[in-house]
Amino acid sequence: TGHFTYDPGFLSTASCRSSITYIDGEKGELLYRGYPIEQLAEQCSFIEVAYLLRNGELPTKTELEDFDNRVRRHNMLHDQMNRFFTGFRRDAHPMAVMVGVVGALSAFYHDVLDFSDAEHRTVSFIRLVAKMPTIVAMAYKYNVGQPFMYPRNDLGYAANFLHMMFGTPCEKYEPNPVLVRAMDVIFTLHADHEQNASTSTVRLAGSSGANPFACISAGIACLWGPAHGGANEACLRMLEEIGDVSRVGEYIERAKDKNDPFKLMGFGHRVYKNYDPRAKLMRQICHEVLQELGLENDRLFKLAMALEKIALEDEYFVEKKLYPNVDFYSGIVQRAIGIPTSMFTCIFALARTVGWFTQWEEMITDPEYKIGRPRQLYVGAPRRDVVPLDARG
Ligand code: CMC
Repeated sequence: TGHFTYDPGFLSTASCRSSITYIDGEKGELLYRGYPIEQLAEQCSFIEVAYLLRNGELPTKTELEDFDNRVRRHNMLHDQMNRFFTGFRRDAHPMAVMVGVVGALSAFYHDVLDFSDAEHRTVSFIRLVAKMPTIVAMAYKYNVGQPFMYPRNDLGYAANFLHMMFGTPCEKYEPNPVLVRAMDVIFTLHADHEQNASTSTVRLAGSSGANPFACISAGIACLWGPAHGGANEACLRMLEEIGDVSRVGEYIERAKDKNDPFKLMGFGHRVYKNYDPRAKLMRQICHEVLQELGLENDRLFKLAMALEKIALEDEYFVEKKLYPNVDFYSGIVQRAIGIPTSMFTCIFALARTVGWFTQWEEMITDPEYKIGRPRQLYVGAPRRDVVPLDARG
């Protein structure tokens, strides 16, 4: 291999030094800036976590108030952006809309384009965090044919999101505190996950000096795939297809069959070889939300729990250390909240924007940073001469 290391899928390549997120895959441990995800999910709001991820430290009361106020003041989209939504077919996948609209943000903010300036980066971060819920909710409203809802600054981040999703101009939306809290924790659990495929995409795109809004749009495109963020949508569709506990065995057998491309969605992870700590927290929230809504006997939740139990006792899954990941239960919670399946990955993107931006910023401020440029092992034709068209047979 000459002086290159051949490492398809980057199984053993560290692409950067990072001080943002730590994962111990063997233990099933996840830390943001050193803090365990369990403590952050329990004691902090998503806005606090966003501040922590970008700044490295938890905010003081005053810092939090200031950051929260700034986010609230930036949550409206430029009115001209409405046309981007209406330019799509109503049945377009909302992730396609997200790729387009977030990429288009790069054309709107000419006032803060000097990314060597920390304040310019701060304003861009606040704009992105503030506008993502508005963009996601607008993609949904356009899809269902309801008018766009303006954000409400009297509401916190998650409550405002639910208001923009489910409120209408005819009726004031009163967010249920249990659902608001669940939404906030879902955001926290998705905020960052070190060098996964979409984050590496954002870093690679940004390594050329490209606009961060455009780079995040590239990250959204990557997240969409069913092996990554699209797994939450694929997992719910799978549970619906299985339909009944009596058919779980059949699907487990299919997942084990080498000749069948079917995989158990929401199972397995490149780094976790133990229970994904986010999946544990998600299962707990799932319980709380279903209980609050009187849906304790939810068919899909029961099915998911049965599937998990059977898989975790099966030799194939035990041997390969395949455990539920964050996407396994997140769809069931979101469905109970009223979010349609096609929107799940958009919510993942909304939250992951914090991580994407933070990772991009860590890269461009790193003195060791270089344009990302992998090498290859060429296995194509050796040098040869073009045969004139008439003489080709
Ligand atoms: N069902 C059945 N078999 C599986 C599964 C699964 N879900 N996941 C992995 N395996 C098998 C796989 O076939 C392979 O077998 P063998 O060694 O015999 O070839 C072995 O386990 C190792 O898996 P891999 O595909 O080589 O591992 P990877 O690190 O390349 O892939 C993964 C990780 C997450 C892409 C994969 O586990 C998968 O496709 N899972 C289903 C999709 C999913 O839930 N994705 C969400 C990931 S977590 C959060 C996120 O990014 O959204």
